[in-house]
Amino acid sequence: MSMPHNIAVLVGSLRKDSYNRKIANAIAGLAPAGVTFEQVPIGDLPLYNEDLETSSPPAQWTAFREKIRSSDAVLFATPEYNRSVPAALKNAIDVGSRPYGKSVFQGKPAAVVSASVGPIGGFGANHHLRQSLVFLDMPVLQQPEAYVGSAQNLFDDAGKLKNADTEKFLRGFAEKFAEWISRNR
Ligand code: FNR
Repeated sequence: MSMPHNIAVLVGSLRKDSYNRKIANAIAGLAPAGVTFEQVPIGDLPLYNEDLETSSPPAQWTAFREKIRSSDAVLFATPEYNRSVPAALKNAIDVGSRPYGKSVFQGKPAAVVSASVGPIGGFGANHHLRQSLVFLDMPVLQQPEAYVGSAQNLFDDAGKLKNADTEKFLRGFAEKFAEWISRNR
């Protein structure tokens, strides 16, 4: 059994049947014992506005920041929207990164998976996101890279993975991420 880790999961898609959410769920189910995942909702976060950064910021911001702060690591599972990350995910990153000097992301180990219905698996979004993670000073798992293409073909009607190669790949990804967190927490 690996060291216990409690991982916050940020899914860049807000839609109920999101393939990225299904991928995040699959990773959670394939991870080593003791590694737990919790999806942290981002859809209700007010758009970041520095004017709201007072002694009583929006309650949703505070709750979100607390959730990330109390986690050991962050898994980002994102679609690609116009070759970048969806606005909802960028907003969540901006909310968590402030006030200046109090970013809840600072130093937390992270991993990125992107899934798309297209053939290149959200490569553009994956790497756009990594640019922000450099500035947030998050040690990000480098290998294996995880670009999941043609995601619409990978799940059965119940939302379970039906592709053995993808399952093997995601199991390995979850194991490497757990090791990465143990080394970088
Ligand atoms: C997309 N999609 C898309 N796909 C892609 O591979 N590259 C892209 O740049 C885009 N751009 C894009 C913009 C917008 C506004 C939407 C709504 C969609 C398609 C995208 O891969 C597809 O909708 C996925 O199913 C989104 O992921 P979820 O919601 O299934 O997790």
